[in-house]
Amino acid sequence: MRNFTAIVLAAGKGTRFKSAMPKVLHPIGGRPMLYYPLQALRALKAKDIVVVVGHKAEDVMARFNENGFLSFAVQEPQLGTGHAVMCGLKGLKAAGNDVQDLLILSGDVPLITEQTIKALFGAHRGTKGAAPVISFISTELSDPTGYGRVIRDENGRIQRIVEHKDLKPSEHRINEVNAGIYLVNRPFLAENLKKLGTKNAQKEFYLPDLVRLAYESGQSVSALTASDADEVMGINNRVELARAGRLLNQRTLKGLMLNGVSIVDPDATYIESTVKVGPDTTVYPGAYIAGSATIGANATIEQGVLIRDSAIGDNTAVKAYSVIEDSSIGCNASIGPFARLRPGNVIMDNVRIGNFVEVKKTRMGKGAKANHLSYLGDSIIGRHVNIGAGTITCNYDGIKKYTTTIKDNAFIGSDTQLVAPVVVGKGAYVGSGTTVTKNVPAGSLVVTRASERVVRGWAKKRLKKGHQA
Ligand code: UD1
Ligand code: CA
Repeated sequence: MRNFTAIVLAAGKGTRFKSAMPKVLHPIGGRPMLYYPLQALRALKAKDIVVVVGHKAEDVMARFNENGFLSFAVQEPQLGTGHAVMCGLKGLKAAGNDVQDLLILSGDVPLITEQTIKALFGAHRGTKGAAPVISFISTELSDPTGYGRVIRDENGRIQRIVEHKDLKPSEHRINEVNAGIYLVNRPFLAENLKKLGTKNAQKEFYLPDLVRLAYESGQSVSALTASDADEVMGINNRVELARAGRLLNQRTLKGLMLNGVSIVDPDATYIESTVKVGPDTTVYPGAYIAGSATIGANATIEQGVLIRDSAIGDNTAVKAYSVIEDSSIGCNASIGPFARLRPGNVIMDNVRIGNFVEVKKTRMGKGAKANHLSYLGDSIIGRHVNIGAGTITCNYDGIKKYTTTIKDNAFIGSDTQLVAPVVVGKGAYVGSGTTVTKNVPAGSLVVTRASERVVRGWAKKRLKKGHQA
């Protein structure tokens, strides 16, 4: 799709969100709402994109500061969607002034697809007879509350769009609504924007009034009916945000399933649109995979697992109720159940991390194991190291953090404390219950346990003294 410019309206406060954050920055599917319409415009190769910002403009600009791809125009104060377009036009590059088609859309329609916008171009450019001066997307809703309604004359021609708050009682039942996505002819726009007024319920310059102006001057208007009403849904409050989030999630899951990912229960699985998952991976109910996470092929993500911004290799199993953040895990590994990987871990192939093991800023070499109940923080752990149950790296002295290094093939007995900074050499053994405070040379054994004493018959004697067992 070539030769069009675009204005995206994102200056409104989003009053109905009752939020300190601008509406268009609220996340859906792991990204701010505004990301999605911009992505569609990027895919359609818009020549120039201006985003109209106003309410908390700095926050929106900071989040979408992508050099070259788009520019911003500030609308202050916000006097309505018509006024927003007046401000937006000033931001368009002069080089695009000869481009006739201007696409205008709201920043609050995150489910809109490239295909539907393409269809709008088709309707606009392909109309027989007089070319329309304005084309917009409409849809029929069983509950049209809140949307502008499409009013047609006795011949079925589109006459005007009336905002919900301006409807006459008899017009409330009209369920054809304006989706707020328009393709307009630049000369028509320049001529008619200045004719917009504010005599309406909200005392704002309404962009949809352009439709009435076109009709009154005998110019043609076309409407493209979107077959999927969900796609053009405008998000005005958090109830709608949640609904759109669910729909986007279903779309993401469907895409993954068609690409070979098994999702046992799509109604109970959440995968953000940013996530990549390889074929033959199975995801069980209750999993939440977020951010920049990538999951390899033939992996298993069991129930209740949270994975955020992490890489999981091929054939790796993340077992039930594990939490993995900002970590990288190799292939053929097994994590959990009930494991917690805090940020900064690099876990190599064939590693096993079992239940109730917490790992932070730690590197674990190929084939290393920590199967039960341990804390491994700020550690460098070599290949095939065995960490016994209850091992703790004491990485913090109350002021600073220190590193624990455990070299290849070392064996750490159960209930060991490794007081960092400390190094356990290659193939060394640490006896159970040891508190290691000095470096352990390669191949040696270290034990700090007090020697064991057995007192035969002690229990009987104790009872005789009158103690109860
Ligand atoms: C708008 C349409 C309505 C349509 C609906 C579809 C108008 C007057 N009404 O209503 O016909 O059915 O969208 O979702 O256009 N904005 C600005 N500056 C402003 C006001 C709004 O940039 O001064 C931006 C908002 O940030 C938002 C978009 O324009 O992204 C639409 O504004 P909103 O207040 O959500 O309009 P609706 O009441 O939903
Ligand atoms: Ca809206």
